[in-house]
Amino acid sequence: MAGPKALVAGNWKMNGLTAELKEVRLLSDMLKGVRLGCDVMVCPPATLIRPVVQLLGSSRIKVGGQDCHDAATGAFTGEISAEMLEDAGCTAVIVGHSERRTRHCETDAVVRAKAEAARRAGLTAIICIGETLEERESGRTFEVVSGQLAGSLPAGFAGDDAVIAYEPVWAIGTGRTPTRGQIEEVHRRIRRDLIEKFGEEQGTGFRVLYGGSVKPNNAAELLGADNVDGALVGGASLKAADFIGIIKAYA
Ligand code: PGA
Repeated sequence: MAGPKALVAGNWKMNGLTAELKEVRLLSDMLKGVRLGCDVMVCPPATLIRPVVQLLGSSRIKVGGQDCHDAATGAFTGEISAEMLEDAGCTAVIVGHSERRTRHCETDAVVRAKAEAARRAGLTAIICIGETLEERESGRTFEVVSGQLAGSLPAGFAGDDAVIAYEPVWAIGTGRTPTRGQIEEVHRRIRRDLIEKFGEEQGTGFRVLYGGSVKPNNAAELLGADNVDGALVGGASLKAADFIGIIKAYA
């Protein structure tokens, strides 16, 4: 059975000034007339969301946020709500990235509340899960990934509401990647969990992305793994020339 359409999403993290808008323009130009085998999204820092949305206009490239608060409004200095992201032109938001789980102590319950906020605002939540090196080396990968999935993905969600991104923490920004076999066994487990929780039809409707050191030169190998429905890309999404090399794995 054919899986859901792949998604290649670029997470710029805390990178990008106005000058970097040229990379988005370049990407949009490079994709013109290209038959895309996947959906494409960029998640710039909050300060660039509006200019990126304006620059892309009716382009096929979608825009996402990198995080949101779970409340719609309120006295939360410095925070951004899902409604604000939607208002700025986003169609999705990343929640529970390992950098936020670690540095901002986000628990599964916090991530789940953010995913619910995303749905409330009409956004797709890109929910990140993944084990640390220590957890992998102590044989706890499945337990950690299944636990985060169960705790972070709200009941009643469907494939339009959420995308799952499996990102082994030790592969993020390190240039180290799991083998294709290691990716396949975790993605198989995630798919099994999704089907168990949501039933066959709904469970197969979720996209499960791989993330962690995806580059143009390893994209075909990593993204060709079974049950991988796209990629969440950090460093290699900052330059249009690199990002397109990953998108082309689906050409
Ligand atoms: P990376 O980041 O591609 O730079 O490893 C991935 C991510 O954090 O989403």
